[in-house]
Amino acid sequence: MSHAVAKPATTKAPGGGLEGVVAAKSEICFIDGTAGKLVYRGYDIGDLVDNATFGEVAWLLWENRLPNQAELTEGKKKLGASMMLPEHVMNVLKALPPKTQPMDALRTAVSALSSIDPDLTDNSREANLRKAFRLTAQFPTIVCTFHRLRNGQAPIAPDPSLSLAANFLYMLNGKKPHDTLTRVMDAALVLHAEHGMNASTFAARVIAATLADMHAAVTGALGALKGPLHGGANQDVMELLLACGDVETAEKKTRETLTSGGKIPGFGHRVYKTFDPRATFLRKMSKELGEAAGNTKWYEMSEKLIHVVKELKPNINPNVDFFSASTYYTMGIPLDLFTPIFAIARIAGWTAHVMEQHINNRIIRPTDDYVGKTDLKVVPIDQR
Ligand code: COA
Repeated sequence: MSHAVAKPATTKAPGGGLEGVVAAKSEICFIDGTAGKLVYRGYDIGDLVDNATFGEVAWLLWENRLPNQAELTEGKKKLGASMMLPEHVMNVLKALPPKTQPMDALRTAVSALSSIDPDLTDNSREANLRKAFRLTAQFPTIVCTFHRLRNGQAPIAPDPSLSLAANFLYMLNGKKPHDTLTRVMDAALVLHAEHGMNASTFAARVIAATLADMHAAVTGALGALKGPLHGGANQDVMELLLACGDVETAEKKTRETLTSGGKIPGFGHRVYKTFDPRATFLRKMSKELGEAAGNTKWYEMSEKLIHVVKELKPNINPNVDFFSASTYYTMGIPLDLFTPIFAIARIAGWTAHVMEQHINNRIIRPTDDYVGKTDLKVVPIDQR
């Protein structure tokens, strides 16, 4: 076997991890990692977070334009109509051992949902759009239902008159959330809804490109999101803050970790070489929520961590997961639901990408640079 094969120009010196490799043409999301700019379908994230709800953003990602009032009302109705879980999915969630990780429960429920989805094997845009609505509506119900079941509490049925963000908080706690909390949750969903060719979206597109169905793609995306290098980092951030307990310990531990070559969760990014714009909004939310709750401890510890990281690693900045941790914690959300919240938002982006992949599909099948052995011969088993 020869290694003397010229590499195609498109794979010119990609670093490990496919850094810099263009995997698809996309009209969904633009990121300028140097300027710290994030744009969904032409709209700056700051404009969206200030002036659009998660429902509008999901519509924008799927339809490539913002909805008008009638369309938004119609969209809300469609979401509301799909929020309840089918009985067999409730039974699957009930059958899971309480120690099941919520991301695994979510992934299992999506697999179970596929078995009765009326559009499962139809990859037309119309069918995919219906599935995108359904999955987006079902995600918060799955997460809250499983959370209550594992704690021995009765699940709370969704209220279709509430927004997705309000419903999540309602089904979690059993009481209608205050407007401020709903607004913060909705803004967090907007900020997490989409992010170009990130690991979970790439996983979804690879699966969609085999012409497997949307549920299969979303199941794979959930598996990718769970990892601590991706969506799992938000839980790790809060675990770190809690383990430190105070600003002095956080500073000491951060210094120790960095000087011994370790990584601090919630920092660093493949694309952003400056402050992640999503972290800017979440930073403000963490501060304001902390002030409103009369406890800015977690926010202040987070600020201290930034200071120490910047001192020792000037090029490393906080990412989306850093301030979402203290924000969710201050809202009283259990730690292991932080990553499922990321999924509740990112389902909008994943499904938009599945639909885009199916428009002009070609199977995604890269190659590798074989560096293993060659020319071996099988020795009979009794002689090995
Ligand atoms: N803490 C300390 N140093 C970090 C760091 C972190 N969180 N993230 C990256 N670095 C450093 C690396 O040690 C490396 O330094 P070196 O060149 O001196 O070896 C350099 O920055 C590049 O890091 P690398 O891991 O190669 O970047 P990547 O693009 O492959 O990975 C992440 C990106 C996000 C996976 C990585 O930054 C990370 O592991 N972050 C922590 C987990 C996290 O927050 N994930 C959520 C992402 S939204």
